[in-house]
Amino acid sequence: MSGFSVAWLDLREGADNAARDKAMAAQALSWLTADEAVMPIIVDLGSGTGSTLRALSPVGASPARDIPGSPTRDLVWRLVDHDPALLNEALRRHGKTHIIEDHEADLLDLTTLPLAGARLVTASALFDLVSLSVVDALTARLVQHGAGLYAALNYDGITTWTPVHPLDGHVLAAFNQDQRKNKGLGLALGPDAGDYLQMALSRAGYTVWVADSPWTLGPADAAMVKELIPGIANAVAQGYGLNPDALQEWKDFRLAHASTGTCTVGHNDVLALPGTGATPGAFSEVSKEQP
Ligand SMILES: C[S@@+](CC[C@H](N)C(=O)[O-])C[C@H]1O[C@@H](n2cnc3c(N)ncnc32)[C@H](O)[C@@H]1O
Repeated sequence: MSGFSVAWLDLREGADNAARDKAMAAQALSWLTADEAVMPIIVDLGSGTGSTLRALSPVGASPARDIPGSPTRDLVWRLVDHDPALLNEALRRHGKTHIIEDHEADLLDLTTLPLAGARLVTASALFDLVSLSVVDALTARLVQHGAGLYAALNYDGITTWTPVHPLDGHVLAAFNQDQRKNKGLGLALGPDAGDYLQMALSRAGYTVWVADSPWTLGPADAAMVKELIPGIANAVAQGYGLNPDALQEWKDFRLAHASTGTCTVGHNDVLALPGTGATPGAFSEVSKEQP
């Protein structure tokens, strides 16, 4: 089991979808399907219950058989996760409408990734959990297969709240430290994930774009915020020098304002396409080094 419940992934999906940079998602998809001669195979890493599949459907990844006359091509989804319960849920939700291959695999061993023929590798809310060496190994494999990467929703270390509380800064500093701990995939990149992806992929000759994709949570997201707050408080409760009473007071204050206040959690989306012939979207190109 991964520690990511279906309930939590469902709870955050609305905020994730609102946060994603839509132009970048469309750009990733158009690159995937641009060459009629190439089978549009997507490998989604840490797929969970299929959130990337659902997120890309509104920008054109719907199965063609559902849309009479649609120019959309059927995509082949290879969903990769180490949690069989999440993969089974993805199959239950989408197995009848999409072409899905499920792959139970540990991303620590990238040699087993089903990348043969893949045009695009995707992930969401994954790369802040992985280590620098996982990114390096994945980059080498992307180069080997000539595949692009669309990595959405990498936590960037910036969280703000209203109303403010005097402990917010201390809690955030501790949380960002905790985000760098080993989450099962080596010492995690945490808030550095987006920067490291840009660097590794541009060094490998990819054209890389980045776009901000923050969660902007308000009263309508109270249920999610009420889960987020204890999650943060638990993560920072030990080892970061926070006074337990002060932390409890922070948690109580945050929960008391969960239905009326706001919370912004910064993320970024990264798109990296091989070579230099890619067409920029509405987001900013951050690196373009010649191979
Ligand atoms: C934050 S969840 C994101 C899930 C999904 N992409 C989404 O956005 O809803 C991280 C996912 O990575 C998977 N995961 C974590 N560590 C993994 C590992 N070592 N190997 C394979 N999958 C892993 C988890 O099971 C989970 O589905």
